[in-house]
Amino acid sequence: MLDAIKNRRSVRFYRDTPVTDEQIEEVLKAGFCAPSAHANCKWHAVVVRDQDIKDKLGTIHRWSKIVMRAPVVIIVCVERVGFDHFWVDDAAAFMENMLIQATDMGLSTCWVGLHGLEDADHYAEAMVRDMLGLPGNFGVLGMTALGYGARFPNPREPKLMEGRVHHDKFEG
Ligand SMILES: Cc1cc2nc3c(=O)[nH]c(=O)nc-3n(C[C@H](O)[C@H](O)[C@H](O)COP(=O)(O)O)c2cc1C
Repeated sequence: MLDAIKNRRSVRFYRDTPVTDEQIEEVLKAGFCAPSAHANCKWHAVVVRDQDIKDKLGTIHRWSKIVMRAPVVIIVCVERVGFDHFWVDDAAAFMENMLIQATDMGLSTCWVGLHGLEDADHYAEAMVRDMLGLPGNFGVLGMTALGYGARFPNPREPKLMEGRVHHDKFEG
């Protein structure tokens, strides 16, 4: 198994060490290598370094604060045109590719979900569209923090989850 897949963890505290534009490009390139239904490939990524914008993104929901503490935040969106049934799947593949690439480069990440999160007054995707000036037909999957980690979860070994693999048919 690729070490980067095994070692990827959600890191919620970051050092001030800067991340270069070249590093960000490598991470983004991995995203753009993702599979995409019907080869739609309508991904967009917004790279945020501006602290004021990160602070606003951190207020979107109660689990999003961590983006305030990261040097870089990347928001993953898909332009929804034509047959866009699988836009969430496309965006998730983009996101995961980035997380694995970043891990391989010694960087840390934490996926922060946005799509589908709403309460009576707030619809996370719409809030992000407003904050970033995204067109109304952009689906916003989520964002990831990116940077050099300061605190790490304990390492773990890959294993099959007990009772979760089924052969030929579901074995309850
Ligand atoms: C769709 C999605 C949304 C997530 N949203 C958040 C979030 O809002 N805040 C956060 O701190 N972590 C978030 N996470 C990270 C998960 O909490 C994390 O992946 C999980 O606890 C397993 O830990 P690991 O990533 O270290 O393996 C999200 C992960 C996914 C896949």
